[in-house]
Amino acid sequence: MWGAGALRYGGDYNPEQWPAEVWREDVALMRRARVNLVTVGVFAWSRLEPEPGRYTFDWLDQVLDLLHDNGIGVALATPTASPPPWFSLAHPDALPVTADGVRLHHGSRDTYCAAAPAYRAAARAIAAALAERYAHHPALALWHVHNEYGTTCHCAHAARAFRRWLAERHGDLDALNAAWATSFWGQHYTDWAQVDTPRATQYLANPGHLLDFRRFWSDTLLAAYAEQRDLLRAANPAVPVTTNYVLGDWVPVDHARWAAEVDMVAIDHYPDAVDDGAEEQSALAADLARGWARHGAGGDRSAPWLLMESAPNQIHTGGRMHAKEPGRMARHSLSHVARGSRGVMFFQWRAPAGGAERFHSALVPHAGPDTRVFREAVDLGAMLERISEANEGTVDADVAIAWDAASGWALGHPGMPSPHLDHRDEVAAAHRALWRAGFGCDVVLPGDRLDAYRLLVLPALYLASDATADWVSGYVREGGHLLVTWLSGVADEHARVRLGGHPGALRDVLGVRVEEFHPLADAQTVPLSGGGTGRLWAETVRLAGAQPMDTYADGVLAGLPAVTRHRFGAGTAWYLSTRPDDATYRRLLSDAARAAGASPVCPTAPAGVEAVRRRGAGASWLFLLNHTDRPQRVPAAGVDLLTGATVDAQVHLPGGGAAVLRESDAAGRRGAPDRADG
Ligand code: GAL
Repeated sequence: MWGAGALRYGGDYNPEQWPAEVWREDVALMRRARVNLVTVGVFAWSRLEPEPGRYTFDWLDQVLDLLHDNGIGVALATPTASPPPWFSLAHPDALPVTADGVRLHHGSRDTYCAAAPAYRAAARAIAAALAERYAHHPALALWHVHNEYGTTCHCAHAARAFRRWLAERHGDLDALNAAWATSFWGQHYTDWAQVDTPRATQYLANPGHLLDFRRFWSDTLLAAYAEQRDLLRAANPAVPVTTNYVLGDWVPVDHARWAAEVDMVAIDHYPDAVDDGAEEQSALAADLARGWARHGAGGDRSAPWLLMESAPNQIHTGGRMHAKEPGRMARHSLSHVARGSRGVMFFQWRAPAGGAERFHSALVPHAGPDTRVFREAVDLGAMLERISEANEGTVDADVAIAWDAASGWALGHPGMPSPHLDHRDEVAAAHRALWRAGFGCDVVLPGDRLDAYRLLVLPALYLASDATADWVSGYVREGGHLLVTWLSGVADEHARVRLGGHPGALRDVLGVRVEEFHPLADAQTVPLSGGGTGRLWAETVRLAGAQPMDTYADGVLAGLPAVTRHRFGAGTAWYLSTRPDDATYRRLLSDAARAAGASPVCPTAPAGVEAVRRRGAGASWLFLLNHTDRPQRVPAAGVDLLTGATVDAQVHLPGGGAAVLRESDAAGRRGAPDRADG
């Protein structure tokens, strides 16, 4: 869906919060900013169905007609993330229950249990009513089901559904007892009725139980999405359907698995850093979205995805808001487009006067359109029109980083050796090191094809099934280059530790055997003999075929290997037993990537200038984003689509500025690929 062509531009539009005169101003301003897609109705359930079964569509009719008359498409949402107050009063059993047994009440949003039959029926009913009325409305460009699935519950409905799910997954109680290692602390189950959701416990809960609960919710929420999708699709198969993914460790959603069920992956992304951490987070989120999109029907490395929500201005960090500096909104947006997003959408169009998010940023802020933010929004609309030819093709990436939702969930469990074990953080650290060194990265999942990549990085891939272990060793045996970090391959898919020394599933390919963990205190570092430091973690690594490349220089581990390299089959496998400081990590990953034959996207780009290349049929586009506040020059040649200027030898980027270069042939040509595209 949504092939090459115009980039989508707009955001969440909540006309139900405003009188009709404001709608007319909204549409005039949208036209000025070249907005061509708005998400409507996300939280409008109580305004669309004020009483059970009584629908008030007249205002939405007018809004959709007005938008259509002005050439603006609509991503029409089903409002099921916020049931009306009447719903909770009529169906108290469908209100969510927390792990410690508290039943929550309406007054915010997401107040429902997606396993409760009454909620599911009401959600289907409002979705069906919307489908019946609007499936053929000419403004309708996309169905946006729900908002950010992720809410869990421990009520009786959830417990019943969890037991059914467990019986299907494990077959019988013996298998469940084995998977959850219930002999520990006498948790052995003898009847399904004894199995509950992981409610609040006296002390540490069972890790297998917690992990399956996450998986159960991913599947349950997916089923809730799919039943809405099916009835929307049935009403008009020509209109694509999706839902917006929320990112975060708390989210019990396996986004890659969901990709097969949506017509296009859509993500919401809100960086929480104020320094260049925000740029790195945007790059990682976009690479993740592109990696998930490959898992869609017919997905490949150029599968489309969409940035469905982002913040026009303030970044919310540590309970405080930080205004984005001029130019930053555009650079974040271009970074997503460079990485394959079919457009740039924001939360939200107009800032509301009231409600919980009254101070969230908006394209039209409280101060109105005569503002820097709205002027930047107008500029961004023009930029996106000028670069629309770059809305196709694959993104150059020589390096693959593995992502695994379940490893993230399992590492967050209580009873781990350190409080700082986080799959996302480790993926982000490796991605950051490669981002700073200028290498393009794809995010892959265990089992994905790897023949497009020179280097595979596994950061804290804690859970590894036998199939994952075979995927890794097969890749290296056949000549692949691999870099594995601490805490990978330690446990199986049920979160049971593999015996015989860590990293159990990957010992052979790495040629090491880890005897002991040495988690480090928060501010503690350990010197490495190569000059860098390690933090967070260290290990007693015994060599079993690998060579030491760096050693611990102090303390109980002095002289023992910290970084190793192993020839395995026709390939090479590196192991890092600690988190190196940023400079050391960057050097290590650059060395491993270069030794594997990878090269940075634009080797001449100076520090602080991000370079991403998209490659389409017969053309390539180089996105250059200057994240520094100083002017920068980048040797490159082509036509800068943002200015129309021809660049012969050097692009001049103002501080905070950007260029999107249609490259002259010679500049964009890639070294002859020796591997097929995955
Ligand atoms: C998103 C959500 C929006 C809004 C936004 C604020 O996660 O989908 O409705 O709450 O966050 O940042």
